[in-house]
Amino acid sequence: MKRAAAPLLLEPAPQGAAPALATEGILMCAPDHFGVDYVINPWMERQIGKAERELAELQWKYLAEQLSARARLRFIAPQAGAPDMVFTANAGLAFAGMVIVSRFRAPERRPEERWFREWFRKEGFKEAPWPEDIAFEGAGDALFDRAQPLIWCGHGWRTSKEAPALIENILGRSTVGLRLVDPRFYHLDTCFCPLPGGWLLYYPQAFDHDSQQKIATLAGEEKLIPVSEEDAMFFACNAVEARGAVFLNDATQALQRRLHEAGFTPVLTPLSEFFKAGGAAKCLTLKLDER
Ligand code: ARG
Repeated sequence: MKRAAAPLLLEPAPQGAAPALATEGILMCAPDHFGVDYVINPWMERQIGKAERELAELQWKYLAEQLSARARLRFIAPQAGAPDMVFTANAGLAFAGMVIVSRFRAPERRPEERWFREWFRKEGFKEAPWPEDIAFEGAGDALFDRAQPLIWCGHGWRTSKEAPALIENILGRSTVGLRLVDPRFYHLDTCFCPLPGGWLLYYPQAFDHDSQQKIATLAGEEKLIPVSEEDAMFFACNAVEARGAVFLNDATQALQRRLHEAGFTPVLTPLSEFFKAGGAAKCLTLKLDER
């Protein structure tokens, strides 16, 4: 799919934003070993070997630079042989100093579990026990609502349907299971993004009927920001919010206006190379200090 590039709506990064002022810690992993080496989602089909490392590096750095003006960034060392490790959203789910380390469904990504576990341990997170045989792909499939104490939890492609109940038991926070039905939107964060104030940026057709109803009931119709298939296919829902700015790969003018109206500043950070692996802005980050 091709279309004219939307003009960048970039706010100048606030000068000298000191880490002490940043309220959020975000984990990222540099793309030193990034590439499309195997196919575990539809975006990766026919993309093996096609991600350009240098461009990926520039794009990743630009995202990190933009984010660093609004959040404290943390980094985990990239590992050879773990090309998807850049997608730290899948490291696990961190909450109040605790972490559930991911149990990947895709065998290709299992080696990452060890690297992420070691990092969390070293940083003093308390690891919650998780059953070996239940797949859970971390904050890729578990998203904290920003207005109510609940965790939206996607399942159907990567994360097992048993995961939401388990997470609720472990973290003591209510979870809402949402069934994903479109293989292009295989992680919840590819099609759903809770924003402060209770706003919900999402692509309705990625969910089964029951889940669409749960979303509307729990969030409230007036808080929904449904996106078109065009925006969804540019990973507009794969957005990271930090202090009122919403970082995303791309968005139509209509969606950018909608975000402005809801009080947010969209910041476009093009991520074409990561797209080839099926990920964009949100996938490249993990919020560590969810409460
Ligand atoms: N190639 C990676 C995979 O299929 C992409 C992960 C994207 N991450 C995310 N949180 N949506 O696992």
